[in-house]
Amino acid sequence: MTTQTYPKIRKAVIPAAGLGTRFLPATKAIPKEMIPIVDVPMIQHIVEEIVRSGITDIVLITARHKHSIEDHFDFNYELEDTLEKKEKDALATISKSLGKMCNLIAVRQKMPMGLGHAVLCAAPVIGNEPFAVVLGDDLIDSTVPCTRQLIDIFEKEKTSVVGVMEVPQADVCKYGIVGGKMLNPRLMEVERLVEKPSPAVAPSRWAIPGRYVLTPAIFDCLREVKPGAGGEIQLTDGLQLLAQRERLLAYQYDGVRYDTGDRLGFIDATLAFSLRRPELREGVIELMKKHMGALK
Ligand code: UTP
Repeated sequence: MTTQTYPKIRKAVIPAAGLGTRFLPATKAIPKEMIPIVDVPMIQHIVEEIVRSGITDIVLITARHKHSIEDHFDFNYELEDTLEKKEKDALATISKSLGKMCNLIAVRQKMPMGLGHAVLCAAPVIGNEPFAVVLGDDLIDSTVPCTRQLIDIFEKEKTSVVGVMEVPQADVCKYGIVGGKMLNPRLMEVERLVEKPSPAVAPSRWAIPGRYVLTPAIFDCLREVKPGAGGEIQLTDGLQLLAQRERLLAYQYDGVRYDTGDRLGFIDATLAFSLRRPELREGVIELMKKHMGALK
């Protein structure tokens, strides 16, 4: 394997074209990614992480009925003008800042053919550059944005890297799990990836939640992957092929992850984010006490 030189990471892909079936009926007409954690849509947290990581060109993999995501990151002249006329300048500024936040390039995934297929849809826009992938329903709360942590590893090691978190042995069956050679306590050279292994055969407890920095070689790998059950092309299968062709690293990032695509993960994130809002904190604690009392 040779070490290549790559340009800087300039683009991030957000796959957000899934059906969001775990959130039905809410997701029948509303994109899952637009469901708010308190009052900020899930995807705004994701875009903010990417922007804080130094990237403003974002390729959104989208689908029918998901226009509202693009609208959210655009100006809304009518709303902003009305807010200004009513002297609600702070709210008008919030709305306008979303329009300026990033350059969103929307690409349609015409059928939900899996996460690997969604990433492949970005190939014509990404071209021959390395890029980040950040899942639209996976929130990672950290001081240094998780995507930035992975970009730092990429810039040092000059090869693809997936973000991983350690999970309890009993939970490995819920994730893609990496196995390989430990380079230091937080960095592994990946030799294999197993999708949802049983605890007995899992190669480690390092799970891939939804952060990646990848070289463009991933696109050829995804083109070669055979669709699995349900005709879906899995990103894990593409990464397995990538690990055979290039060095693939796994980095245990610093941060707390919330699986906001899952109902309990969503409630967890809602509580955590509302408790740190000074204007909501006391009220939320009172509500929690009330509900805990009702359980006694
Ligand atoms: P998920 O499987 O968690 O999301 O995919 P989903 O398919 O939307 O939701 P459920 O499982 O039916 O409830 C992880 C991410 O990959 C995107 C999803 O939008 C989500 O952000 N994805 C998944 C795509 O963009 N295209 C796909 O074909 C599948």
